[in-house]
Amino acid sequence: MSMIVDHINYIYARDTENPVYALKDICLTIPDGQFIGVIGHTGSGKSTLMQHLNGLLKASTGSIYFNGEDIYDKGYDLKKLRTRVGLVFQYPEHQLFAETVFADVCYGPKNLKLEKQEVELRAYDALRKVGFPEELFFTSPFDLSGGQKRRAAIAGVLAMRPEILILDEPTAGLDPKGRDEILDQIKKLQTKENMTIILVSHSMEDVAEYVDRIVVMNDGEVFLDNTPKEVFGHYKELEKIGLAAPQVTYIMNGLYERGIPVSTEATTISEAADEIMRVFNKSNN
Ligand SMILES: Nc1ncnc2c1ncn2[C@@H]1O[C@H](COP(=O)(O)OP(=O)(O)O)[C@@H](O)[C@H]1O
Ligand SMILES: [Mg+2]
Repeated sequence: MSMIVDHINYIYARDTENPVYALKDICLTIPDGQFIGVIGHTGSGKSTLMQHLNGLLKASTGSIYFNGEDIYDKGYDLKKLRTRVGLVFQYPEHQLFAETVFADVCYGPKNLKLEKQEVELRAYDALRKVGFPEELFFTSPFDLSGGQKRRAAIAGVLAMRPEILILDEPTAGLDPKGRDEILDQIKKLQTKENMTIILVSHSMEDVAEYVDRIVVMNDGEVFLDNTPKEVFGHYKELEKIGLAAPQVTYIMNGLYERGIPVSTEATTISEAADEIMRVFNKSNN
């Protein structure tokens, strides 16, 4: 069970004088249960790629296979694909519309023609999984804070019980506390539910702490695809395409260049602290 993206290209405004080559020869394998961060500056093709993964956009050329089946085959059920590969759009709260949060989250499973009890069960479950406060289940989505709206919108997609959950910039516009809370909840979906997570972000700091793998997009192409440690090791190349490694990478490399024998591989603050202490304790012995 996995998703394979096989040499896809996508061109916007194809038959006009100004076609946009948004995706160029993209190849990716997405195994079950992985947490993947997709990074790239604005316009690099991240959102376009995500809309291919759940079949909203169809590649100009190339193929996508989900669990061994070609999603572009005649008769392939794209509607079903969209429930199995859930996509949370950027600023999803703009799509909240029902009278209560609960009714909004019920909307997706209701459309799957499930029994009322199952629909409601899924809605409760999804809202709990995103840490949405129970006392607000039956308030209007329009009375919520930004972070709560975002959670409600994510719950709406989770209630479909997708196997792959794609989140397009889920922390955009949130304060650091709201950001960390949402990312922590998303991480739990991977570790506790074994869900495959694809998180789009333009911030390395955001993804460094959480993901198993980073796909760096640049100008419609996959620029790097590797573990965070490997990707951040290329921080000088990342800078050339307008991105930066997390601050930790710069601190560790800075120490190393000044003659302190730390390993520069740490990608999180706690790893960096441990490594600095290791070297510090060693030199004191
Ligand atoms: N609907 C559209 N029509 C024409 N060009 C588009 C459309 N949507 C996106 N693009 C262009 O495609 C490229 C990739 O955009 P996008 O996938 O939104 O990038 P990202 O999500 O990384 O910011 C950009 O050059 C963007 O301007
Ligand atoms: Mg985008």
